[in-house]
Amino acid sequence: MLAPRCDQTPAWNALATHFDLAGRPLDLREAFARDAGRAQALSLTAPEVFADLSKNLWDATSRSLLLQLARECRLEARRDAMLAGEPVNPTEGRAVLHTALRAPKGQGPFSDEVHEVLDRMLAFVEAVRAEAGAPDGIRHIVNIGIGGSDLGPQMVVPALDAWTHPQIQSHFVSNVDGHDIVPVLRRLDARRTLFIVASKTFTTQETMANAEVARAWFLARYGEGAEAAIARHFVATTTNIEAAARFGITTTFGFWDWVGGRYSLWSAIGLPIALAIGAQAFRDLLAGAHAMDRHFAHAPLEANLPIQLGLLDVWYRNFHGFTSRSVAPYHQGLKRLPAYLQQLEMESNGKCVDVDGAPLPYGTSPVVWGEAGTNGQHAYFQMLHQGTDVIPVEFIAVRHAEYGPAPLPEAVRAGLADQHAKLLANCLAQGQALMQGKTTEEALGEKAPTASKSLGALTVARHRTFPGNRPSTTLLLDRLTPASLGALIALYEHRVWASGALWGLNSFDQWGVELGKALCSQLLPRFATGDLSGLDGSTAALLQRLRA
Ligand code: F6P
Repeated sequence: MLAPRCDQTPAWNALATHFDLAGRPLDLREAFARDAGRAQALSLTAPEVFADLSKNLWDATSRSLLLQLARECRLEARRDAMLAGEPVNPTEGRAVLHTALRAPKGQGPFSDEVHEVLDRMLAFVEAVRAEAGAPDGIRHIVNIGIGGSDLGPQMVVPALDAWTHPQIQSHFVSNVDGHDIVPVLRRLDARRTLFIVASKTFTTQETMANAEVARAWFLARYGEGAEAAIARHFVATTTNIEAAARFGITTTFGFWDWVGGRYSLWSAIGLPIALAIGAQAFRDLLAGAHAMDRHFAHAPLEANLPIQLGLLDVWYRNFHGFTSRSVAPYHQGLKRLPAYLQQLEMESNGKCVDVDGAPLPYGTSPVVWGEAGTNGQHAYFQMLHQGTDVIPVEFIAVRHAEYGPAPLPEAVRAGLADQHAKLLANCLAQGQALMQGKTTEEALGEKAPTASKSLGALTVARHRTFPGNRPSTTLLLDRLTPASLGALIALYEHRVWASGALWGLNSFDQWGVELGKALCSQLLPRFATGDLSGLDGSTAALLQRLRA
């Protein structure tokens, strides 16, 4: 590795000392009482995103030591190397250039290739959308893909519902479980359906199995001329054009090995997004991400939002010992964001050796999980407020609601405005409650009408005590638009890079998914043969039961 690993720097030791002296005992309530300027001092503005980082368990010293850590780990030089296309994914011998996919024409590496595919893809998109209202136009888009070939489009399309074509319905099939594809097929009309087989490698078991089922269904349902119609109703988005051709697909939009699966929604993998929201909105999505790329590339470390978030992640994981982070988007359209972020962060940074293969003596990726607000409040927020573990929460709120172009009756609009105010108030209240908490004395002074009368006041108050001092970050968007969503996603990509780089990881490979895949191919024939030889007792017994 060209840079020292985080634990080999003087800043790391200084952070450890500072954590014992001031980090662990830091009380957010006191910090706000002491410093009227804390919220302002610990807020950052990046393109399309305002971030309030002030409810986090850090102070001026920890922040400056974290900045020192970033410098000692040569974060800026390593960022520049990635953006310049150096092979920063050494285990696969690849560059990492998803940023090139959203650079304007003529800028960034591989611009000609990128824009040739983008222009061709968006011309295809506009042709399909223009005919959606015609009697035989495409009205159903089915994206068949998994992981990075599914989660990005599946997250973005509902997020941008207000921008979607009113006559096009988007469907996503990912799981090898037939219960995923069958309900989708049931709703389709073969003559008005476009299947996108989305796979970087075009070898992924789940995707190939679903694509075969889709083709069989299409041939059975289309009627006369079905074989010839495959060319019009199946397209592929892949780096493996030959394999797509062998499958019988002639319309293919390619991308390149320097686009990681979980970073690929900006490439041809974004086709279902573009079909849903249109060419211009897709370009706006790219432009929003590019604006964040520029911020990441040029903002000084202390004002660089993705890098600040990455530093905070290291501070929490390695000094505070927090093992998970909850994401709470207060926008129903972002309901798939936690799932998307799980792959982005945990597949990138869920590693236990550094880039040189040396075992790591410290923790890496936290568990990332969450649910759209306010739904999460009625499920797991109990644990966030009163559980024994501290889990930093990331709130995402959107100032203005957007419901699409269809006019709504006045009374409905008034009701929706009221709902949006409630949504935002809930979001702020949760961050406030996590930080503020409630002492037993405060609880004693309150009425608890629903508490059992047979319990003593102190017992009831203890159950109604909130420890507080629980950290959160709040990200604010003005509106959820293609551009702001692009910026938000790019923010997360770069933040994951920053924590991964500090931990000394290769954030761009995913060897951890291989073993299960290999064992699955060994087990699969045993379901037919019943051969249990060499299997451990548990797997053998389970297999036998499943075959019975
Ligand atoms: O699960 C591993 C993985 O390789 C992901 O990284 C990737 O996004 C997904 O499988 C799908 O791969 P492909 O696009 O090649 O089908």
